[in-house]
Amino acid sequence: MPVIAIIGAQWGDEGKGKVVDLLAERARVVVRFSGGDNAGHTVVNPYGEFRLHLIPSGIFYPQVVCIIGNGVVVNPKVLIDEMAQLNQRGIDTSRLFISDRANLIMPYHVLLDGLEEELRGGKALGTTRKGIGPAFADKTARLGIRVGDLLDKEALVERLRFILDYKNVILTKVYGVSPLSLDEIYSQYCQYGERLAPHIRETTIMLEEALAKDELVILEGAQGTLLDPDFGTYPYTTSSSPLAGGGCLGAGLGPTGISRVLGVFKAYCTRVGSGPLPTELKDETGNLIRERAHEYGTTTGRPRRCGWFDAVAARFSTRINGFTGAAITRLDVLDTLPRLKICVGYKLDGKTIDYFPGNVASLERCQPVYEELPGWQSPTSDIRDYEQLPIDAQQYVARLEELISCPVNIISVGAEREQTIHKMPIF
Ligand code: GDP
Ligand code: IMO
Ligand code: MG
Repeated sequence: MPVIAIIGAQWGDEGKGKVVDLLAERARVVVRFSGGDNAGHTVVNPYGEFRLHLIPSGIFYPQVVCIIGNGVVVNPKVLIDEMAQLNQRGIDTSRLFISDRANLIMPYHVLLDGLEEELRGGKALGTTRKGIGPAFADKTARLGIRVGDLLDKEALVERLRFILDYKNVILTKVYGVSPLSLDEIYSQYCQYGERLAPHIRETTIMLEEALAKDELVILEGAQGTLLDPDFGTYPYTTSSSPLAGGGCLGAGLGPTGISRVLGVFKAYCTRVGSGPLPTELKDETGNLIRERAHEYGTTTGRPRRCGWFDAVAARFSTRINGFTGAAITRLDVLDTLPRLKICVGYKLDGKTIDYFPGNVASLERCQPVYEELPGWQSPTSDIRDYEQLPIDAQQYVARLEELISCPVNIISVGAEREQTIHKMPIF
């Protein structure tokens, strides 16, 4: 059985949660490998509707072991609350494991995320303010505290004292806010450690065991390719890599270990937060898509910016992730539109280009070059066979397939598990 990475191919919120919940039926292990509780993955299945921020979307199957990998930054309070909420709704979380190498989100990370955003003023990134950027910055600066550190209280207090002294200088002298209390954070994090201890593991061994038995492993991406700190719209990005390559590092797997990479694309584009979105619709059509699709952030409730499908960005995404296949979600959202546009190139300073510029200033000057297709103007949510889709819907999907340069395996026509068309087998 292969290892399959499920990757957000645009700016996040493509429907990764739905796709993972769907495919996890055949899996033994599902690993979240990047980001933190900035993610919001919606799953609608026979148990109800769930919004997961840290727990992998495979948690609903009793045979699936769920892992929060070393590449995730973990806010233990959010995780404990999320486990409790699932337990209250009858979902078992005893098969959830957290890598001892994952970095922790500490109270000063959340505080600094907000303070830094305020300081950026008009250039604010529009972060989720969950402390993600400051936590990854500390990981790189070697000022992080890791999940495994919760298991050794004496070492934890020493490490926390050293780091908090430094953070309190920044909080008081740079931002002029009150310092944080060592005793309070220490006692809180000791409690979190006691609660999480049975779930903390050397998780790469668990992956190795599954692979040795030839069992299916799913790497669950968070965020989207165009929020990657290297390949996204820097600096308007997140702080860890949502790419398939990030899956190797964030789960603890060599690059040759991944055999399938499924890119999840919405049938149009959305973005939440600041930064360029070349096909953004600031008109009635944009509003119509937002309202029809309830395009409001799962984590922050902010309205998502909506636009036409951007095939320039999509092709770039296919290339840097090495997609072997794609899932197109939310096709049903386009059911009522009389005409559809697909961006097939950009006009930049009078020239037409077909690549995704690496520089935000250039990207902001890009004007989309559109191709128009007829809409199908009939409902698709109850359709389960590709051939039953209206011919104009089939042609829209076929054109996307051609432009993004990889086969479409899955078409999603609703939030529920079964509202899915299996166009071509993945395995
Ligand atoms: P994720 O972060 O990539 O998991 O995506 P989100 O959960 O943030 O946002 C996707 C939204 O689309 C959620 O509300 C899903 O329930 C919903 N959804 C997923 N697939 C479909 C689909 O095919 N049609 C419709 N109408 N909604 C979908
Ligand atoms: P899922 O996994 C959409 C965006 C934020 C902001 C930028 C930086 O649900 O697809 P951060 O808090 O990460 O420092 O914010 O990244 N962002 C997301 N947008 N979906 C997500 O996750 C996101 N996670 C972060 O809105 O623009
Ligand atoms: Mg989301």
